[in-house]
Amino acid sequence: MNSSNKSFSHSIGPQHVAIIMDGNGRWAKQRGKIRITGHKAGIDSVRIAVRFAVKTKISSLTLYAFSSENWRRPEKEVKFLMELFVFLLDNEVKNLHKNNIKLLIIGDVSRFSERLQKQIQKSQELTENNTGLRLNIAANYGGRWDITNSMKQIFELIKIGQLSFDDINEETINNYICMHSQKNVDLVIRTGGEHRISNFLLWQVAYAELYFTNILWPDFNEVVFQNAIDAFNQRERRYGGVESNF
Ligand code: IPE
Ligand code: IPE
Ligand code: MG
Repeated sequence: MNSSNKSFSHSIGPQHVAIIMDGNGRWAKQRGKIRITGHKAGIDSVRIAVRFAVKTKISSLTLYAFSSENWRRPEKEVKFLMELFVFLLDNEVKNLHKNNIKLLIIGDVSRFSERLQKQIQKSQELTENNTGLRLNIAANYGGRWDITNSMKQIFELIKIGQLSFDDINEETINNYICMHSQKNVDLVIRTGGEHRISNFLLWQVAYAELYFTNILWPDFNEVVFQNAIDAFNQRERRYGGVESNF
């Protein structure tokens, strides 16, 4: 690295990485298979991403698994994704726990089956006191839902007299936004080639760096993850200020 771009590098990498895991359907289609084959293949990529995050000591990893708009998909696909979610919670949580990972499901879980909701609660409770990676799975999550949900809670407190209108500011809104107690999102990675947020984290990505790759989610691996981190490390984050040494 020459001295001219030294100021662009970070001594520490991203603390909180969020991933839009897109491209499962196209991956399957390329192989002449049905879409759910792609979702199944994507599970291995989830394992790879989690393992990489643990190894590189990222503090939070947030994965977009199911958006509030994904209910628009064919009933069969939605049903399969729900079953996959139940299956994974059943089979993987012990492993997460063994690795000191703390699991949090973000999103409106009230629309899920009783069984799934119970399983979510149980999994979160089991890993509650773990101190390693914070693994957040966004399920029936929407960025607009998150902000609306925060506002609702604030108005509830105003209604019962525990908060006044003048108390509403960015900090109070933030206090009711998902993952507010974790590090700020530094880097968002989207696989699958689309250049959009698709109602993923909105409030939380105010100053995140965005990284887009054409790699389809089932093809995601450590090299792709490392490339995203290397790209992040080359960015200069100015937060509205001016470039250092300028
Ligand atoms: C992302 O892959 C997985 C989910 C939304 C659950 P897609 O299913 O959106 O795959 P493409 O975008 O159709 O290829
Ligand atoms: C975003 O992907 C949601 C998840 C990865 C869970 P989509 O495939 O649903 O997004 P759009 O429809 O291309 O915007
Ligand atoms: Mg998609």
